Amino acid sequence: MAAETLFDVAVIGAGPGGYTAAIRAAQLGLRVACVDDWRNDKGGPAPGGTCTNIGCIPSKALLHSSENFENAKRHFGDHGIRIESVAIDVEKMLARKATVVRQNNEGILYLFKKNKITFFHGQGRFEARSPDGYRIAVADAANTVLSAPHVIVATGSVARPLPGLAFDETRVLSNDGALAIPQVPRRLGVIGAGVVGLELGSVWRRLGSEVTLLEALPAFLPAADEQIAREALKQFTRQGLKIQLGVDIEGVDVPAGAIKVRYLDSNKEAQALECDKLIVSIGRLPNTEGLNGPAVGLKLDDRGFIEVDANCRTAVPGVWAIGDVVRGPMLAHKAEEEAVAVAETIAGQHGHVDLDTIPWVIYTAPEIAWVGRTEQQLKASGQPYRAGTFPFAANGRARAMGDTAGLAKIVADAQTDRVLGVHVVGPMASELIAEAVLAMAFNASSEDIARVCHAHPTLSEATREAALAVEGRALNI
Ligand code: FAD
Ligand code: NAI
Repeated sequence: MAAETLFDVAVIGAGPGGYTAAIRAAQLGLRVACVDDWRNDKGGPAPGGTCTNIGCIPSKALLHSSENFENAKRHFGDHGIRIESVAIDVEKMLARKATVVRQNNEGILYLFKKNKITFFHGQGRFEARSPDGYRIAVADAANTVLSAPHVIVATGSVARPLPGLAFDETRVLSNDGALAIPQVPRRLGVIGAGVVGLELGSVWRRLGSEVTLLEALPAFLPAADEQIAREALKQFTRQGLKIQLGVDIEGVDVPAGAIKVRYLDSNKEAQALECDKLIVSIGRLPNTEGLNGPAVGLKLDDRGFIEVDANCRTAVPGVWAIGDVVRGPMLAHKAEEEAVAVAETIAGQHGHVDLDTIPWVIYTAPEIAWVGRTEQQLKASGQPYRAGTFPFAANGRARAMGDTAGLAKIVADAQTDRVLGVHVVGPMASELIAEAVLAMAFNASSEDIARVCHAHPTLSEATREAALAVEGRALNI
């Protein structure tokens, strides 16, 4: 007979949403259980979800390794550093990535202990409502059954396959297999030129693959500001990524030899792409498999997301849902924001998430980052605005780094000067965007940013210059 255990909060899923919710709830004095089923290669627990195991962390490890390789091969010479020969040891690179992942898994297990969170390793499944709230059965060795009046569902998302083409993770790869290719493929095909396609396509291109991305939409990165997307496309093309827009995939043949992707190009002409490995990166689907939500009346919307209100409350009292399994951007930091807000609300505080100031970052080189609204969105909505831009080519630090591609851009309300969006394509855009998020969170005007002293020489001066440019008074161009 399994032991039943009573908690104040049960969290299902230990990705960035789930483990953060567990920690915050425990900090607030609640008795917390967290259930997660991810296994490492030895079958042991590997908390951290997609982000830690096959997402943010391993992709950034490989992006960093491959960028070092490319710098050593192509750019160190500019600094007078002579290297006779450069080679990549893929096995070692992947082993380093695995170590980084393991360190993060262990870090989360340490945080669970530190915060006295009870961790259960196995799939969690709603059984029924109970006098204590909800009963959750865990498929662990002890067949644990938990009860809690509050349940936070943070079960994340999974890669969306192309209809009729299952991932085998050997040749037809989701992000999982794409992060573990044992040898640099000669020809790598990528279906979907979104965030995964660009990041992982960049990794393998830098290591020597011939990479072709086939994208259905006619526009490149339509969620980004058009000016930024144009510049990014120019840089990626220059680097050797072959990006075809407006394609229509007709079918994929996976015989013993080369994989063949049959498609219509943007002129509706039949084409075929032959490749040795194929990454399919066409978005992600919310994951509610095994959760047995209907047992407690949990509802999904027509796209499979758990339905929640602005505060991540489901229609089932005491059941909350956060992260990739609910509406909004599928980003780790968005999941974390919701996690903290929900834990605080459960504890009687006033949790709040502002989806309008969630930053986006694409960790290519140059990096792309933005927060708020794009120029095309403002045009479409008819809102009067002013825009200021500043190129990294005119920034002293970028020149010193030898990394001058790209620009910073600010769009501000034409009347009030309130910052409505900040867009960067360039070196360390991922770090530069934090200042912009802070500015927007405090309702700053572009003049506020322009009046703040920025250290010299830094890349952040480009943001300040873009703010000055909103008023047509940039100093260094
Ligand atoms: P997840 O991280 O998916 O975690 C859900 C967890 O719940 C998993 O461990 C899962 O096994 C577990 N689970 C599911 N069902 C059950 C159940 N019934 N019982 C027990 N456990 C269960 N975002 C960024 O912000 N920055 C990035 O740089 C970034 N890079 C990415 C790179 C790639 C290649 C990919 C694929 C994604 C990337 N993302 C990035 C997105 C990010 O990974 C997700 O937004 C984030 O992981 C969502 O967090 P989550 O907690 O909602 O879900
Ligand atoms: P995505 O939504 O970013 O891109 C998918 C692309 O595939 C889109 O451009 C779409 O138009 C295209 N597409 C869809 N169907 C297609 C088809 N049949 N043929 C050709 N193209 C098609 O999704 P992606 O890249 O899979 O990533 C999933 C999510 O993971 C991202 O949206 C993001 O939320 C998260 N992520 C975040 C990262 C970051 O923050 N740096 C990195 C990687 C992923």
